[in-house]
Amino acid sequence: MATRHFLTLLDLSPDELHYLIQRAISIKTHLQAQGPNYTPLPNRTLAMIFEKSSTRTRVSFETAMTHLGGHALFLSPRDTQLGRGEPVGDTARVLAEMVDAVMIRTFSHANLEIYADASDVPVINALTDDYHPCQLLADVMTWTERRGRIQGRTAVWVGDGNNMCHSWINAARQFGFNLRVCCPEGYEPRADIVAAAGDSVSILHDPQQAADGADLITTDVWASMGQEGEQARREADFAGFQVTEALMDHARDDALFLHCLPAHRGEEISTTLLDDPRAVVWQEAGNRLHAQKALIEFLLLGRTS
Ligand code: CP
Ligand code: NVA
Repeated sequence: MATRHFLTLLDLSPDELHYLIQRAISIKTHLQAQGPNYTPLPNRTLAMIFEKSSTRTRVSFETAMTHLGGHALFLSPRDTQLGRGEPVGDTARVLAEMVDAVMIRTFSHANLEIYADASDVPVINALTDDYHPCQLLADVMTWTERRGRIQGRTAVWVGDGNNMCHSWINAARQFGFNLRVCCPEGYEPRADIVAAAGDSVSILHDPQQAADGADLITTDVWASMGQEGEQARREADFAGFQVTEALMDHARDDALFLHCLPAHRGEEISTTLLDDPRAVVWQEAGNRLHAQKALIEFLLLGRTS
């Protein structure tokens, strides 16, 4: 059987994604009831390659492997041969001889694809410049826990047409919800990704209009990792695109606010939004652990229910 990778949400079918969300909820329920005694991956190893910073992704993958009975290995370019120019394809072949799965956070999505093409073990995208699919598993899981199925609902993305936005677009397509992307002119998501999503996605430039009657609002930092030099220009360009309690008031009464974190209070969100009961970001962050356990289990063992 061909090795399954998870480079974008499009690598799994809608049915498989629904399964993963339900499985993640079930794994979480079991953990809360009985502690980390579900250990289907004894002595299995996940290599974690981080070429960008991380708090949530590193801790959730490493903890997930510990809970599942396996081991996670942190690798940074600073102290591996990747940082000294060993080709990614060679690294992929070498690691596949030793570990059971590889998780990569890097800049170029094309490089991730080169890595995956050369890898005989599953490769997981833990964020590239173009996508962050693991975050969307946790996001849809959080919505599902709070409000049920996301199919047919209306979500609003406020901010940059970045990696998170692209994954929200793919999620709209795969989970069957509507996504309004609201960004300043010039910061639209990639046209091919939008076009592939068809009627699921619309592009707007007025936050209040976008928020009107929405079920869910989400945003992200204005300058992503690698764009630090554009911070000042982006602060000017994104003025007026801050998500505030007042903007949330344009959404439905039971609307939720999500943010992948880290958040910059006073920039993309008001200083107090994360204290608002509509914000469910801590649950969302915690769900990275459960969603990724379901993903690792699926890639290594297939469906278990
Ligand atoms: N949301 C997220 O991926 O956080 P980290 O950058 O801390 O991993
Ligand atoms: N868009 C952000 C997401 C961080 C989790 C970045 O790439 O820095």
